[in-house]
Amino acid sequence: MKKYSIVIAGGGSTYTPGIVLMLLEHQERFPIRQIKMYDNDGERQEIVAKACGIYLKENAPEIAFHYTTDPREAFEDVDFVMAHIRVGKYAMREKDEKIPLKYGVLGQETCGPGGIAYGMRSIGGVLEILDYMETYSPDAWMLNYSNPAAIVAEATRRLRPNSKILNICDMPVGLEEMMAAMCGLESRKEMEVNYYGLNHFGWWTSIRHKDGRDLMPEIKEHMKKNGFLDGMPGPEESWDPSWAETYRMAKDVYAVDPDTIPNTYLKYYLYPNQVVKHSNPQHTRANEVMEGREKTVFTECRRIIEAGTAKDCHFHADAHASYIVDLAEALAYNTKQRMLLIVPNGGAIENFDPEAMVEIPCLVGSNGYEKICQGKIPRFQKGLMEQQVAVEKLVVEAWIEHSYIKLWQAITLSKTVPGADVAKQILDELIEANRGYWPELN
Ligand code: NAD
Ligand code: G6P
Ligand code: MN
Repeated sequence: MKKYSIVIAGGGSTYTPGIVLMLLEHQERFPIRQIKMYDNDGERQEIVAKACGIYLKENAPEIAFHYTTDPREAFEDVDFVMAHIRVGKYAMREKDEKIPLKYGVLGQETCGPGGIAYGMRSIGGVLEILDYMETYSPDAWMLNYSNPAAIVAEATRRLRPNSKILNICDMPVGLEEMMAAMCGLESRKEMEVNYYGLNHFGWWTSIRHKDGRDLMPEIKEHMKKNGFLDGMPGPEESWDPSWAETYRMAKDVYAVDPDTIPNTYLKYYLYPNQVVKHSNPQHTRANEVMEGREKTVFTECRRIIEAGTAKDCHFHADAHASYIVDLAEALAYNTKQRMLLIVPNGGAIENFDPEAMVEIPCLVGSNGYEKICQGKIPRFQKGLMEQQVAVEKLVVEAWIEHSYIKLWQAITLSKTVPGADVAKQILDELIEANRGYWPELN
């Protein structure tokens, strides 16, 4: 069996240890000979890399391990690039979230003006990594989950249409796990779904057990009462309060269209005022993550380095992220596994822009993916999606053309923003905050 070589781009990510452990757990179906890490922040990456290096030495000494900030060393001799970079890191996420809130507009990592600002930073970073891969390992695949995935995917469609990149998101995977739990199933893999939308902007239209049983009626009963809460794993004390609120609010999102099951991110577009009302403009999700996940991961890495052993480490394989192994395995071994990917529509949603990047089920194999047609979509979803896809396309055009007007239009068109005047105020402050990260706009 061939063994694969992988580079994790964004080696300093809070998700890196979880991904490394998850890769080790799946050695029998996806064997690895080498793991490399690449980041453009050497100091940050070194902490994560040294700790992972100790773990690997103790648990899988046969796997070669290397970390670097040198693109050539990183991208040479790899089969897969697993990319999760955050251009501007948490310091910029905090600004993305807090600046719109000053003007009464929601502040979110991937939605609304915050997501647009992040998109303007991410496009260049992701293209750079893709170009490194194509220069040093032209046959490799890039599995990208760097956000905002919708905007990044549109940028790669426009600017690198022939590149071997697949854009993917873990939100539907997580929500499917919760729906499987509601139905008393062991795993989401017992289900077969239909789903359409944009990234962080979609709906399930059918969920069946692989034996043919329709699971939608049961799931709808839970949604009507408690949103996704009935599918939450573990005791209530262990729930992250902001995510629990999102899962609860899915009930209100569901109410707007009881024929489908919504992605939780739709709360930002359907109930923006409520989200703003519940936000603290001085303390946003970025602060929670910096005080929570980021602190925990880096404290643990430093502890492991100091102790010189990872024997009693608190890392755990990121079960959520096992879809990344599924994807790599499908490409490597032509499994034709059915997965949701962010791909050019090209008629898969019949009555929607063929040039939009949509999130739909695909069969993944060694030649890439085959899309599964989702037919015609209803007017409500179509209207929402047309507005949102125009926002995403305008952002990418603004980035390519360095156009102030197009970025202003994008923010104005976002359903989360009340008008062009507010959009302009937010934009002008975002421009200041993003100097050095965005192209200079004219
Ligand atoms: P993080 O800030 O902890 O890690 C990101 C790393 O990327 C940092 O070490 C940073 O130095 C590095 N980086 C930034 N710009 C870079 C560049 N141009 N080249 C190389 N490295 C660069 O962030 P995190 O919270 O761990 O999240 C990482 C990314 O994964 C984010 O984009 C996040 O939104 C995304 N994510 C996506 C999904 C999904 O569903 N698609 C799920 C989880 C996380
Ligand atoms: C989900 C989404 C990701 C997003 C993450 C944010 O996993 O699919 O795209 O980055 O949530 O989580 P956080 O804990 O950083 O707010
Ligand atoms: Mn996502």
